[in-house]
Amino acid sequence: MCGIVGYAGNKNVESVLIVGLACLEYRGYDSAGIAVVDEDEIIIRKEKGKIKALEALLKEKPVKGKVGLGHTRWATHGEPSRINAHPHTNEKNTIAVVHNGIIENYIDLKNELQSKGYRFQSSTDTEIIPHLLNDELKSGKKIDDALMSIYKRIIGKWAIAVVFESEPDKVFFAQDGAPLLIGKGKNEYFLASDLSALIRNCDEVAYLSSKQWGFFTKEQFQLFNFEGVKIEAEFKKQELKWEEVDKIGFPHYMLKEIHEQTSIFRRVLEKRINDKNEIEFTELIASKEFLTKVNRFVIQAAGTSLHSGMIGKHYLEQFAKVQTDTDMSSEFRYRNPVVEGDTMIIAISQSGETADTLASVHEAKAKFLKVISMVNNVNSTIARESDAFIDTCAGVEIGVASTKAFTAQVLHLFLFSIYLARLKWMITDEQMKEIVDEVKTLPTKIESILQRASEIEKWAKDFVSSKDFVFLGRTYNHPIALEGALKLKEISYIHASGYAGGEFKHGPIALITSDVPVVCIANKSEIYPKMISNIQEIKARNGKIISIVTEGDTSAKSMSDYCFEIPDTHDFLSPILSVIPLQLLSYYVSVARSCNPDQPRNLAKAVTVE
Ligand code: G6P
Repeated sequence: MCGIVGYAGNKNVESVLIVGLACLEYRGYDSAGIAVVDEDEIIIRKEKGKIKALEALLKEKPVKGKVGLGHTRWATHGEPSRINAHPHTNEKNTIAVVHNGIIENYIDLKNELQSKGYRFQSSTDTEIIPHLLNDELKSGKKIDDALMSIYKRIIGKWAIAVVFESEPDKVFFAQDGAPLLIGKGKNEYFLASDLSALIRNCDEVAYLSSKQWGFFTKEQFQLFNFEGVKIEAEFKKQELKWEEVDKIGFPHYMLKEIHEQTSIFRRVLEKRINDKNEIEFTELIASKEFLTKVNRFVIQAAGTSLHSGMIGKHYLEQFAKVQTDTDMSSEFRYRNPVVEGDTMIIAISQSGETADTLASVHEAKAKFLKVISMVNNVNSTIARESDAFIDTCAGVEIGVASTKAFTAQVLHLFLFSIYLARLKWMITDEQMKEIVDEVKTLPTKIESILQRASEIEKWAKDFVSSKDFVFLGRTYNHPIALEGALKLKEISYIHASGYAGGEFKHGPIALITSDVPVVCIANKSEIYPKMISNIQEIKARNGKIISIVTEGDTSAKSMSDYCFEIPDTHDFLSPILSVIPLQLLSYYVSVARSCNPDQPRNLAKAVTVE
């Protein structure tokens, strides 16, 4: 998704902006640009494609200055092109704007501006902003008043940054629902839509809330609400370390993040399970009583987080005995869902910024429902707008295809369900001991899978030319079949679909030929014989079987073309182990097909537009 950076200070603004933009690359983008305020003019450089293309342009046509803005664009209105890339300016090039999010009423505003004679260069919604500002200034307003007037006119979830030729020392910024933060350095201020763009340069950051705006020079910073009332910004020490956003020797972030799962599980279990072997959620202390009275959970999420939510439904129903529905957040808000006062919403989001999930939180609040979010970014909008949040503690995830954040979500959903079941006296001490003992073995079991990653790497070359893949799983592993298929198509562009084993013969089996690999998750469980039936049906139609089985398996293995053994564990914990070979499979197939798994085409790390 789009990214914003801004700077005022003594360093060369061009390099600061390029370094900042490079840190935002992981979010996904298709063009990039900068605006630099020189002494008496605003200079724009922008280019379609990667930041390298912008850097090449800057080499050819360098810019100098101490104040500026930068942007990576992920096309929403208008194709990826140099013209549609940000910054956008007014006709006289005296105002330059970068923008994240969507302006929902841009057509009305554009019509109004065109009727006044304003001419547009691009197909973007963003371009209305410099023209609107131009119009307000032309009517005699001062810059501050012009800005405050347009904030109230542009509808949607957005964040913007603006520079004016007449105020060459200042970067102006505002947000209404899209993230923006300020970084403080020594005699310099930075602006970014994502913390990763700031960590190299500043120790202290302040997160903006909705309907806030302000400006900074290299020495001064001021913040206001949309009514013009001054607000004290809260700068806090930022904790993110550079190593967390570095590949530390791995060829891709995705592989690094797959391998990090062992240490994350160790860390989470240490944090969440106390000396008495009880699960702790200190962040939920205030909600404890309410939690025991919840009659229904509705889980809201998108993409990979939706798949963890689907496993969460099993956990909450199985252990805490609370009816749970898992819903795509993009659908929930538009179908006027039936909910009662004792329904609680669980919003799951790695980034905490997904527009649809945030909108479902707002929808829930409008219905007076309590919301717990499960996020990997505790400073995110979703975390801030929920009644309580659970930190999934996976560390920053940079690879667009979510891996470690997913397993951390599943683990937290499991621990939360057991925690709730304990609050409701539904799990005995002996059962608790058995559960905790088993869950504590997960890091070692994950490690043992990762040590055998090369087994899967060897298979990858066999699938370089595959056109279709099918993934099958049942109960706890049905969402893993969906996740395995999503992962593969996201980063290797091979068409893949996941199905519940039982549904397979109701249509999808028609797809099976000797060219279609079918991944069957056939771990030891009550429904193992049913998965064996699936495998036999595929075998009878010459399908190619890739099976994920429990150590020591013989039946499924004997019928498989490829087989990966995962360590034995309870069926309910098996999705945490079975997903790892599927993450590795999609990674290695992607690399074997010469794709870039970290930055797949058309995708964004956090989808902040609807
Ligand atoms: C995008 C990402 C996915 C992610 C989904 C939901 O589509 O590419 O990896 O699962 O958004 O994101 P969230 O941050 O809400 O978990």
